[in-house]
Amino acid sequence: MTVLYEPWPVTAAELAALLGQAGHAVRTAADPVGLAAILAENPGEPLVVFGPGAAPAEAAAFAAEQRLRGPATGVVLLRADAGADLLREALRAGIREVADPHDPVAVLEACGRSLELSQRLAYGGAPPDLSPGPYGGREAPGGQPGRIVTVLATKGGCGKTTVATNLAVALAAGGRHRVLLVDLDVEFGDVAIALQLTPERGLADAVAMADRLDETGLRSLLTPYRPGLDTLLAPVRPTDGEQVGGPLVGEVLRLARDMFDYVVVDTPPHFSDPALAALDVTDHFLVLAAPDVLTLKNTRIALETLELLGHPAERRIVTLNRSGSPVGLTPQDVERVLRVPPHAHIPSSADVPLSLNRGVPLTADDPAHPVSRAISEIASRYLHAVPAERSRRERGRRGLLRRVRG
Ligand SMILES: Nc1ncnc2c1ncn2[C@@H]1O[C@H](COP(=O)(O)OP(=O)(O)OP(=O)(O)O)[C@@H](O)[C@H]1O
Ligand SMILES: [Mg+2]
Repeated sequence: MTVLYEPWPVTAAELAALLGQAGHAVRTAADPVGLAAILAENPGEPLVVFGPGAAPAEAAAFAAEQRLRGPATGVVLLRADAGADLLREALRAGIREVADPHDPVAVLEACGRSLELSQRLAYGGAPPDLSPGPYGGREAPGGQPGRIVTVLATKGGCGKTTVATNLAVALAAGGRHRVLLVDLDVEFGDVAIALQLTPERGLADAVAMADRLDETGLRSLLTPYRPGLDTLLAPVRPTDGEQVGGPLVGEVLRLARDMFDYVVVDTPPHFSDPALAALDVTDHFLVLAAPDVLTLKNTRIALETLELLGHPAERRIVTLNRSGSPVGLTPQDVERVLRVPPHAHIPSSADVPLSLNRGVPLTADDPAHPVSRAISEIASRYLHAVPAERSRRERGRRGLLRRVRG
């Protein structure tokens, strides 16, 4: 069933007839009370369409709330005059699609795409299909390089390792993509523990191959985890990590992106040399925040640092982990401190530490879990169909960053 929210009766009837063509029953609400009543009767509805008579702010508020309550419910907004600002706000709020109500094909296609995504998010075991994006499919020889996604936070314990491991599983999509998860926390890396892996070799062994690392050499350092997902693990002894410098990390990651569709990088909670080298070659910065004022303030500093380094804002995925924790901060408080609304929210759940202790990421164990869905949605929404412009790196701006961090 599709739920249509449209205050104007004539427009509502026309749109209901159009949406009905897609083979779905349509229920129409004329005001927020009616909408709430329909959804209370039918929790988990996959598609809510806000017609042109609804205020975009209403749609945004609904989508932002829904993202926490039931991320599988897609919100589509119909607006004839959607400018860049509205589109940006809509995307940030979690509205999946904005379509022109006068263009029936665009409306039906937008609803179709949203329903497809909902189906994937609500899947009972089938992994999300990330294949047809510009970088999504397997590489043809000589094709586009893979994309490097770096998970970072300027405060410890924000959930970097949790998010990196779960995101890597989601991106691998049961073997449909080749993903490498790299643990750059060379002193206290815990990807191996989080996945219950015992590394025979890892990043520290790349030191001996510096400047002449090739595909065979890099493959010899990997520890396979599950179909489509390999790991490059941190040294077991913290002192071995001292040998791993920025240039080597750059060499490893540049080679890895030619061998994998996605390279997911877990980082330490500070701008170490290896982490800085990773930032230079990163395509997507997944910046983690947690709902406490000190962490949020640190996150804002991290965002400002990325700005100073010239990494474009559209490459950042600001993610609030443990969203919804009862800590007295409203979404408005979060946005005020961060100065941007988060793109994604990952709920807080006691199942996360349990899964870490078990050594199996939730996305592998329970793909329908709200935490798994939130992380899969980051993959689908931000890493699947983002345009291909490769960010500029090796800019020699690290001196600037060193000054920034004092
Ligand atoms: N969404 C969540 N809900 C509940 N607990 C969480 C969530 N995300 C992370 N945690 C818990 O927070 C703790 C820290 O998580 P994690 O190790 O992933 O953080 P980190 O940023 O990698 O830490 P470090 O800076 O030490 O590397 C873990 O016990 C984990 O289980
Ligand atoms: Mg960690």
